[in-house]
Amino acid sequence: MIARGLRVPRSHGEDVRKELADAGLLRTDLEVEQEGEFLVLPTVNDVEGIPSSWGEPVEREFRLHPAKGPSRYRDLLPWPDEEKETLPRSFDVVGDIVLIRLPTALEPKKEEVGEALLQFVPGVRLVGLDHGVHGPARRREVERIAGSGTWRTRHRENGVELDVDVERAYFSPRLAREHARVAEEVESGDRVYDLCCGVGPFAVTIAHLGRAASVTAVDSNPEAIDLLRETLRRYPFGPRVRAVAAPLEAFLPEAVPVERVVLNLPHEGIKYLPSVARTVAPGGRLYYYEVVARTELEGRGVVLVDSLVPLGEFAVVAEHVVHPYSPASDLVAFVIERAG
Ligand SMILES: C[S@@+](CC[C@H](N)C(=O)[O-])C[C@H]1O[C@@H](n2cnc3c(N)ncnc32)[C@H](O)[C@@H]1O
Repeated sequence: MIARGLRVPRSHGEDVRKELADAGLLRTDLEVEQEGEFLVLPTVNDVEGIPSSWGEPVEREFRLHPAKGPSRYRDLLPWPDEEKETLPRSFDVVGDIVLIRLPTALEPKKEEVGEALLQFVPGVRLVGLDHGVHGPARRREVERIAGSGTWRTRHRENGVELDVDVERAYFSPRLAREHARVAEEVESGDRVYDLCCGVGPFAVTIAHLGRAASVTAVDSNPEAIDLLRETLRRYPFGPRVRAVAAPLEAFLPEAVPVERVVLNLPHEGIKYLPSVARTVAPGGRLYYYEVVARTELEGRGVVLVDSLVPLGEFAVVAEHVVHPYSPASDLVAFVIERAG
């Protein structure tokens, strides 16, 4: 049947599918269609207001989805409807692990939720209750609620498979589109720093595309760097990435300026901004991430570049919300360019 859809690059397909599903905009009665390097996701008619970066709105012939099991994990739970309504609609999938956050009132029933997710998500081995990320290394506190095995897994995104340990080093599958977006901007011969790299998804995606002359990934959590090295060992491009276990305080003073710098330390990055901006070569770009209160977003870019005036001429050439962070704040990406 003919219906409305969103045409998205395959690399972002899963991410956008989840965002549409969370927003109640995805049609589950129709099949996702494939068009070469693109997927066409069937949507409800009114998709006004979704960011243009999600994809191109189109009209297409879709096949009807064959009847299958429940379309929501909550339908596997024999609970009253009002209680099911209090369950989160979304959860994260990291490799063969599912992570979910639950309202406190539902925690006594966490094992039931875990079993439902284990049954619902194909190929899943372990379900964890996500208690959030903490401390300077942004390690995630997780609690097993169903399934078995360790928190170690391999997560596939943007055509690469990353070694991840959900508990020992930061990783979020919600940043996949961001990793791809930055990697796609890297031009032939650019040198790249991935600062606060975690298990290295920016660095690995950039190296995989093959245009960068060099990629250096830095993190103060040695376990994150060990995981990155595990990933790199599996790829022919691995030897071209330098993985450095060091705090920025030790790395930055010796760093020569390069064309692309990523700084993804959203709560504390601001304190490193001037010393990181010094490592951006003339004409180069800094991809800077920050959690910003929605009331302060307008004008935040100007505040950032004003703080860099003593170092030279910088301008915010693009900014966008990556995803909501809390009811009143967003994770925001700022692309800051140094004048050539
Ligand atoms: C939000 S995570 C970034 C993860 C990664 N860029 C990604 O996209 O998945 C922040 C990382 O910064 C690291 N970190 C925190 N303070 C640091 C510092 N002073 N120097 C270097 N790394 C630091 C933490 O260990 C953590 O892995």
